[in-house]
Amino acid sequence: MSSAHNRVAVMHGVNFDILERRDASIYGGLSLNELERRIGGFARELGLEATFFQTNSEGEFVERLHRVPDLSDAVVLNAGAWTHYSRAIADALDVAGLPAVEVHLSDVDSREDWRRVSVFDGLVLAKVSGKGPDGYREALETIAAELGVGG
Ligand code: DQA
Repeated sequence: MSSAHNRVAVMHGVNFDILERRDASIYGGLSLNELERRIGGFARELGLEATFFQTNSEGEFVERLHRVPDLSDAVVLNAGAWTHYSRAIADALDVAGLPAVEVHLSDVDSREDWRRVSVFDGLVLAKVSGKGPDGYREALETIAAELGVGG
């Protein structure tokens, strides 16, 4: 087990594997690989060690959350559309019991009404939305402060 207490699991959900094919005016046109590179850079600057996970399977996402306390000290998650209805993922995040921040590339509160609902309400330290990739920096800053890493 690492004693550094600086490990962050960055978890992406459904449809992030094809991020570059989604509406570029909403999601920016970048690929998941490019997004993860940027997030990795933010993490390094903040003294955090990021690991990445993506799946289109809700069950796999839940199972990863079951294991995440053995692998990480905190979670940054963008669960995509699952955010708006998957109580199973919310329950698994609750059981994981780690500090977590929810991120959305787009501004979910200014889109369709159903995107305003988040099953992670009350489970996350913060929800960052509408800031594109920079939103992950903000999320990681919140995690770093919570873990007492850096500054
Ligand atoms: C998203 C917003 C969700 O509403 C949507 O279903 C996604 C991406 C975002 O990053 O803006 O898949 O989480």
